[in-house]
Amino acid sequence: MNFLKCTPTVFVIENDYEILINTISCGIISVNVNGKTYYEENSGVLSSEKSFAKIRLPQTELNKAKSYEICFRKCIKRQAYFSKFDEKLCATFSFSPINKTENINVYHVADVHYNFNSAIKTCSYFKNDIDLFIVNGDIGEVETEENYFEVARFTGEISHGQIPVVFARGNHDTRGKLAEKFTDYFPANGKDTFFTFNVGAISGVVLDCGEDKLDSHPEYNNVNDFSSFRQKQLKFLSNLNKSENKYFIAVCHMCPVIGDIERREVFTIETNTYKKWNDELIRIGVDLMICGHYHKTFIAENNDAKNLFSHPYPVIVGSALDDKNKVIGCAMVLQNNTVEISFTDENNSVLEIKFLKI
Ligand SMILES: [Fe+2]
Repeated sequence: MNFLKCTPTVFVIENDYEILINTISCGIISVNVNGKTYYEENSGVLSSEKSFAKIRLPQTELNKAKSYEICFRKCIKRQAYFSKFDEKLCATFSFSPINKTENINVYHVADVHYNFNSAIKTCSYFKNDIDLFIVNGDIGEVETEENYFEVARFTGEISHGQIPVVFARGNHDTRGKLAEKFTDYFPANGKDTFFTFNVGAISGVVLDCGEDKLDSHPEYNNVNDFSSFRQKQLKFLSNLNKSENKYFIAVCHMCPVIGDIERREVFTIETNTYKKWNDELIRIGVDLMICGHYHKTFIAENNDAKNLFSHPYPVIVGSALDDKNKVIGCAMVLQNNTVEISFTDENNSVLEIKFLKI
């Protein structure tokens, strides 16, 4: 374990897991599951000049094995001939796949904004009876590689490398010098931060609105093209269908069907595109949408005055910061086509509870 900088995280993407590993020094990182070794994709060349890896493998393999081994060879000198490495070190982690079909415990958190100590306590709500974490954006801006590491340490600490995590990018995660490297560190399909996920009895889609203001806003000084990115997601949604007999959850940091609650012009953007996203989400038959971003918790059902567009699926805004900047999250229990929603604080106290039919 002493070669690891923090506990790894098992992220969910499509029918795979992506295991994020951070090491103390640079070297070759691999994951062994049931006798098979997996490396980070790099066209056949194993990376040794960096201290992190995001290794993708089929869920079926890890679900069967219920444990994985991380191995590391510290690089002494990488060169054209006879590269030199330290001896291989390994560490083993248990993994808990979702085998339940009902009574599934999911904890959602977003808008941590570097309040990691508070968020870790908040995320402990289900103790050992947790099945899935959803970490839904605005964990922090990224000016340095260390900022990415802090987020990875947080996801590792809450999940113990054992519980799967769905991870979405928030608008603050698109800001900063290292923001362009987000997909090197966190789950993505190539360079795309939107994707489907299947995990046990839960399936869904992670969407990414990008920034909260238009690309032309002077604050950005023309560093973004989220307009094209949103169109790309519309095309992706138009080709998507729901899996049978599974709960289908849309995860999105900002809520495309609510927009800015106060209807401030600067934050009310791309409504034509988001209306089309909503049309596709309705066609797909989304059971619920979970969002963050507003720094307040609420549930918006079909006729809520906050809606930009009506939606038959409930929208749960499941994260907040209280007046002392403590993180509030959302516990969800899925069973018999209902979801029990509890907004909880860092003392694991329930602030509000609601049952919804989905
Ligand atoms: Fe946000």
